[in-house]
Amino acid sequence: MNRNNLYISLFSIHGLVRGVSPQLGFDADTGGQVKYVIELAKALAEQPEVAQVDLFTRRIEGVGVEEDYAKEIELLSEKAKIVRIRCGGKKYLRKELLWPHLEEFIDNTIRFFYEQKKAPDIFHGHYADAGYVAMELANAFDGYFISTGHSMGRSKLAKLISDGLSETRVNSHYKIRKRIAVEEKVMQWADLIVTSTQQEIDEQYSLYNNGKAQNFAVIPPGIDLEIFYPYYDVQLDSELLSEEVKQTRVGLLNELNRFWGKPEKPFILALCRPDQRKNISGLIEAYGNNKELQALANLAIFAGIRNDITTMEENERIVLTEMLLLMDSYDLYGKLAIPKKHNFSREVPELYRLCAESRGVFINPALVEPFGLTLIESSACGLPIVATDDGGPVDIIKNCSSGILVDVSNQSEIAEALLSLLIDRGKWEYCSNQGITGVRKHYSWSAHCREYLDEVVKLFPQRYEEDVVLSKLSDGVNKGPSYAKRLGNIRHLLITDIDNTLVGDDSSMQQIFQLLQSNRKELAWGVATGRSLELTLEAMTEYDFPTPDILICSVGTEIYYGPDLRLDKGWFTHLSYQWKPEEIKRALGELGFLVFQEAEGQRSHKISYYLEEKNNRLEQVREKLSERKLRCQIIYSHGQFLDILPVRASKGKAVEYLQSKFKISPRHIMVAGDSGNDEDMLGGNSRALIVANYSEELEKLRDRAGTYFSEHEYAAGIIEGLYHYGFIHH
Ligand code: GLC
Ligand code: MG
Repeated sequence: MNRNNLYISLFSIHGLVRGVSPQLGFDADTGGQVKYVIELAKALAEQPEVAQVDLFTRRIEGVGVEEDYAKEIELLSEKAKIVRIRCGGKKYLRKELLWPHLEEFIDNTIRFFYEQKKAPDIFHGHYADAGYVAMELANAFDGYFISTGHSMGRSKLAKLISDGLSETRVNSHYKIRKRIAVEEKVMQWADLIVTSTQQEIDEQYSLYNNGKAQNFAVIPPGIDLEIFYPYYDVQLDSELLSEEVKQTRVGLLNELNRFWGKPEKPFILALCRPDQRKNISGLIEAYGNNKELQALANLAIFAGIRNDITTMEENERIVLTEMLLLMDSYDLYGKLAIPKKHNFSREVPELYRLCAESRGVFINPALVEPFGLTLIESSACGLPIVATDDGGPVDIIKNCSSGILVDVSNQSEIAEALLSLLIDRGKWEYCSNQGITGVRKHYSWSAHCREYLDEVVKLFPQRYEEDVVLSKLSDGVNKGPSYAKRLGNIRHLLITDIDNTLVGDDSSMQQIFQLLQSNRKELAWGVATGRSLELTLEAMTEYDFPTPDILICSVGTEIYYGPDLRLDKGWFTHLSYQWKPEEIKRALGELGFLVFQEAEGQRSHKISYYLEEKNNRLEQVREKLSERKLRCQIIYSHGQFLDILPVRASKGKAVEYLQSKFKISPRHIMVAGDSGNDEDMLGGNSRALIVANYSEELEKLRDRAGTYFSEHEYAAGIIEGLYHYGFIHH
């Protein structure tokens, strides 16, 4: 890792993410966060010490979604790009439904790093889902893990419950328990947590067990000042406006004027997603109940892109229907504009400026506003603001003094604040000018990136010292690189069975450990065993062997990585497909001759029995399972062990998974074994070695081309194979 040549990865998985006119407001998952991560990626790439910035998101294809989201790579600038990774199929899925597919996202991202032969130094996850992904990847590649929550599950849960939803409903729709549990983990492991405001730390993170005394940095996001420039620039320099901007402005005015009887009045502008928490109805009521306000100004509410109200998500539909009903009951025809469609990135800056030109006011009526991006944008354009006196807006007003804070649950306070800005010209000018200068100083992306990189650099020495401490604790033994780094740097991989293959003859076993040690740089090794992890560790102590790089346990149903025995969760989740352990046990319980193995033999993806094969008993097992339509694999070994596994599991399939995950050619993998539970691994596309002391189940592989039967037994046979296949040399 070189601090002057940083490779930063950002993860933002849900919603629709694209660099060219992002469809902000498309749905609840495509909003401020999408904009934030795209702008952050571009701005970080501008910094001299940053070599590469990749923004990882989900790759999506299908009806209702534009083609851009199916492209794997989208360049954002010379050094920044979006990388789209497949997970959970092709179709668009709302974020709550992505949880089961994150392991797949992680696996495919690891593949991407292997293909480009480079992994990031920094893994920065945005929101809980991508936080999890970044955490796992940072862990795999020994990188720094940074997290930004954007919004937090506990606060959302509290809010929805106070709105009257039941906890069960919140959980089934929003998967909130899962989210909160992941947030706890992310907080526990993050090297740095970036927030936009102090309030997030005090009021949101503090609700978590792991949310206190973390390494926090409050760094507000920047906005693009080339886009959000002051309204008076338009008036001073109107010839400079592009045709496109002029058309946008005229289009907006035409649209607004369809609604207004007196378009020459100033207007009050609100801009948000149609979400109950945005309190749009509170604003309409404040306006509807105040005749003076109605006489002084029009109102325009842009609430998301809507096509057909009847086909909308429930929350959005409720809000929009309510808006229309309120418009009617206060009789706001001719005064209230609720335009249907808008192109956020092009129209929004013009809207702020048109509103400022009319001497209007921007209002964000949301009850909770953790940050308030639109308030900053509006201030940058010189449009004064009114917002809640809680959360993000407090910081904004402190930095910029560009408007008035109110208790937005109090309608008359809203109305008073709007009136005072509309009536008092001096106050309006003051707030307008303060906003323009304050935003430049406090909310530019380049200011954000400087602070960000200062924080990142602070992590470096700290991590280094921790390593020193760790290695001291572990008796001076260096921890070594993490598994994903190590496996990316080796040429050959040996995977061997333990019982009767690696162990059985002590002297050749000691010899092979020496060989593995002296060829360490090029050759990694792993075991593939029927033993559970616990029994594998027992074997390691009993026969005194070093921790392998890879441990394939319980007949290929669990994969762990050394040195710290990290479970491969991607593999674990992959196996659950069509796996019905309870039904299998019930069905096989009917066969009197099967004897259940002890507890260590039973794993979440492995059911094991003792079976003495006679009278076609194996056939009866097979029939019983197929009669019940239970899909699984039946593996018999050493004339006594019967293992039932998911269709996707086996030692051989685990090896194939490693091949594809770590991009190791099958020609560079040697598998060694002696019995029936090694059969499919030995019959796969890797280099196969069968030790001389093999059991009869493997006799059928005798004639198979490309399987090497060694002359020596046990570990001596493995050594013979390593020479035979050219993995090591004399
Ligand atoms: C090991 C396991 C056992 C399994 C057998 C064959 O002995 O402990 O559960 O049945 O290998 O795979
Ligand atoms: Mg064996």
